[in-house]
Amino acid sequence: MSIKALKGFKDILPDEVGLWQMIEGKARDIFQRYGFEEIKVPILEKTELFVRTIGESTDIVEKEMYTFADRNGASITMRPEGTASVIRSYIENGLYVRGSVQRLYTIGPMFRHERPQKGRLRQFHQMSVEVLGSEQAMLDAEVMAMAWLLLQEIGLKASLEINSLGCPACRPSYKEALQSFVKERIAYLCEDCKRRSDANPLRVLDCKSDNCQDQYTSAPSIIEHLCEDCSQHFAAAKQGLDLLGVPYSVNPSMVRGLDYYTRTAFELITTELGAQGAIGAGGRYDGLVKQLGGPDVPGIGFAMGIERLVMLLGQKEKRASKTGLDLFLVTPGEAAYEKGFQLLQTLRILGVRAMTDHEGRSMKNQMKQANKQQARFVLILGDNELESRVVVLKDMLSGEQETVALSMDFENWAAAIKEKII
Ligand code: HAM
Repeated sequence: MSIKALKGFKDILPDEVGLWQMIEGKARDIFQRYGFEEIKVPILEKTELFVRTIGESTDIVEKEMYTFADRNGASITMRPEGTASVIRSYIENGLYVRGSVQRLYTIGPMFRHERPQKGRLRQFHQMSVEVLGSEQAMLDAEVMAMAWLLLQEIGLKASLEINSLGCPACRPSYKEALQSFVKERIAYLCEDCKRRSDANPLRVLDCKSDNCQDQYTSAPSIIEHLCEDCSQHFAAAKQGLDLLGVPYSVNPSMVRGLDYYTRTAFELITTELGAQGAIGAGGRYDGLVKQLGGPDVPGIGFAMGIERLVMLLGQKEKRASKTGLDLFLVTPGEAAYEKGFQLLQTLRILGVRAMTDHEGRSMKNQMKQANKQQARFVLILGDNELESRVVVLKDMLSGEQETVALSMDFENWAAAIKEKII
């Protein structure tokens, strides 16, 4: 029996890779426009890192982490997200010494043992950005505007929902108010909500059950429980979005699935992916760096799920990725094949993306291959052409073809051909 990939783990096939490269390329370009630098962090970390950041009573830590003992018996986990690792690295490498504000991004695979479904995988990829060292609300607006611009430039629309989750000064009183509201209705709630009402009451608001949501329509709003500082911060963040012309709506029942958030939290939502509507999400995490043993610096960031972006784009237009070949060399004939083989190497050295057929197939078959590969030009070099020192160059877009006379000097052939096509 053949071996299949693990459930929830997906190959990204050549046909799709074009979209991935476009998305990642755009992201890098835009992140750099906003002054971000790339950081690469390990996939495996000590389990404790995620327990202490994401939070013990979150779904991710309770039931979704790929955690196992390594050969020395230490508990290690495949990262379920990027923020914790970036902060760990920021502290461990003293990145704060490079400047008071650090803008970092990382792109790569994350792992969560969730129930796989459309847009939800066990290995998925995030583009994750973090700004460490500033608590200014204008920065919140700037970060959200960057996420917004990225979606625009890759050709997607989403709605931006924002909320404020308060701070250690005001959240406890909200938690209490919500907890007593929930307790009054506990008999009508699902098992998950019953459990969460003690350990992590804010999370009940995120429940997927319609029945529970009906109960929460009159739940107290966190916005109304914010302290003066948080309230002003939220107002300033909204004003920043207004200044930048980024549309948003306030969703007071949006809570995030990770415990580290404070103040601004946001999600980029689409209605086109069924239940997995969040294509990006993030927020502020002001106490987190200190809590992990670093300096007392605030932070904010977000991550976008690449699979979800690819699915949305793929739904809109089937943009089959091309090999990007400049030229396919068709060489019917033995002598021509050998010369062509050398010519190809020189063309590649000169920077031309070129391919040929090594199987000695017919001219017709080789032309078919060139078509399939969507090569921009086809260069025909048969034994006759070789003898008369010419090649036939066919422009596959216009369909026109010309016979190009080449010098006696084979060394210069590649340069002359390159001149014609690039
Ligand atoms: P998150 O909301 O857990 O936040 O994930 C961010 C995004 O990753 C989601 O909006 C979604 O697009 C994608 N995603 C999450 N889980 C899956 C999955 N199982 N399959 C496919 N895509 C998925 C974070 O991870 C935070 N670290 C974001 C952040 C950065 N906050 C501050 N800085």
